Amino acid sequence: MGLFVKKPMSILMQEASSEGEHSLKRSLSAFNLTALGIGAIIGAGIFVLTGTAAATHAGPAIVLSFVFAGLGCAFAGLCYAEFASMIPIAGSAYTYGYATLGEFFAWIIGWDLVLEYLFAASTVAVGWAGYFSRIMADIGYPIPAALSNAPYRVEGTHTLIRTGAIINLPAVLLVLALTTLLVIGIKESARFNNFIVAVKVSIVLLVIGFGIMFVDQANWHPFIPAKEIADAATGTTRYGWTGIFAGAGVIFFAYIGFDAVSTAAQEAKNPQRDLPIGILASLAVCTVLYILMAAVMTGLTPFRNLAVPDPVYVALDAAGPGLAWLKYLTTIGAVAGLASVVLVMLMGQPRIFYAMARDGLLPPLFGRVHKRFKTPYLATIITGVVAAGVAGAFPIDLLGALVSIGTLLAFVIVCAGILVLRYVQPELHRPFRTPFVPFVPLGGIVVCGWLMWSLPRDTWLRLLIWMGLGLAIYFLYSRRHSKLQQANG
Ligand code: ALA
Repeated sequence: MGLFVKKPMSILMQEASSEGEHSLKRSLSAFNLTALGIGAIIGAGIFVLTGTAAATHAGPAIVLSFVFAGLGCAFAGLCYAEFASMIPIAGSAYTYGYATLGEFFAWIIGWDLVLEYLFAASTVAVGWAGYFSRIMADIGYPIPAALSNAPYRVEGTHTLIRTGAIINLPAVLLVLALTTLLVIGIKESARFNNFIVAVKVSIVLLVIGFGIMFVDQANWHPFIPAKEIADAATGTTRYGWTGIFAGAGVIFFAYIGFDAVSTAAQEAKNPQRDLPIGILASLAVCTVLYILMAAVMTGLTPFRNLAVPDPVYVALDAAGPGLAWLKYLTTIGAVAGLASVVLVMLMGQPRIFYAMARDGLLPPLFGRVHKRFKTPYLATIITGVVAAGVAGAFPIDLLGALVSIGTLLAFVIVCAGILVLRYVQPELHRPFRTPFVPFVPLGGIVVCGWLMWSLPRDTWLRLLIWMGLGLAIYFLYSRRHSKLQQANG
């Protein structure tokens, strides 16, 4: 059988509706799924990266960067929604790839999604640890620097050097605690997530609602600052329209997560109707919140002041005593918000491994479901341990860029998959149809491709190395154990 053998839709539909010892528990409503999406989306992107992106790339026009990146995500989200309604299986883009582009591409997407989910969990756990350590220091229990920092950092563009720290312990402990929750149950995890999402959305709404009263409109002028040279040696520029697009590449990270909804397909009560709702509603809510939040932050203080790890705090601080109460609440919002991103990413990854193991592309232990908890517990534990190790050792900037490039690649492939399937199998039942095909998927490919292009060359190199490793595993293990290849002799 060839590399491009496709998994028949009839088998996928059977798997989607099968019940039994190896199936997951269907307990999530449309509301839970939307909350999972928002849980995964609002995090380090808006609470941390927006400030630097405004200060060093776009100025107040970071609002337009959010519009541009949001447009790419809307295109991709509409394509995800069609696939999720048509193939409601835990593997998300991996499974969509198997049905449309064949096994080899499916493997590539599955392996690429590790960069999105597992690495995003580690990245955001590192961001969380930064906030958490600061709160501990503020209340008089500082965590020693050697135990709250990454032992490695990147020097220049790709030399890894030791920092003298031993481990980022808070990041490791957060990942392990959330992994335990996920092993116990999806319903329990969703309940915990609903609570955190309520806290963080309320705080974002408070920042927007009260912040807007203190905006000094002079801070928005000029809205698009003139282009200037940022680094004479490399010729790098900032501001102007180039800065808006570069800013979009950075804050794209803030949107990542709506697609994680699709990994819970086999735990949704009514997946064909509710997955598109969860994906599109969470993305729409967050896009509006982000655009408003970015406008408020750059309206409260001159944008050059925002190049700090806690830009929301700094923006509120600039408003004077009137918003002092909100500064502290924001820190709580960030700690809660970042934790739920880690939770949902740690939920998504094992469900993709689970789907890959059931197809024989990963060892069967990844597909084991706990008898009582009905969760893919071994895959969850393996994901948690690896994510904890990565979070304990590496700095946030290195991880963040990898997550963005990995996710963008998955989005491009999903958009291409929708196009292919519309022409190859137009007769399939599609409970949700992406509107304006081919324009929406083509738009997704162009915008996400453009955002990928704006990422540093070293990140591309790391992506290629990661993919090379994935290919080696595919040819040494997965191809030989693929159930589809075996069934077809
Ligand atoms: N969108 C998520 C965040 O910003 C990954 O933390």
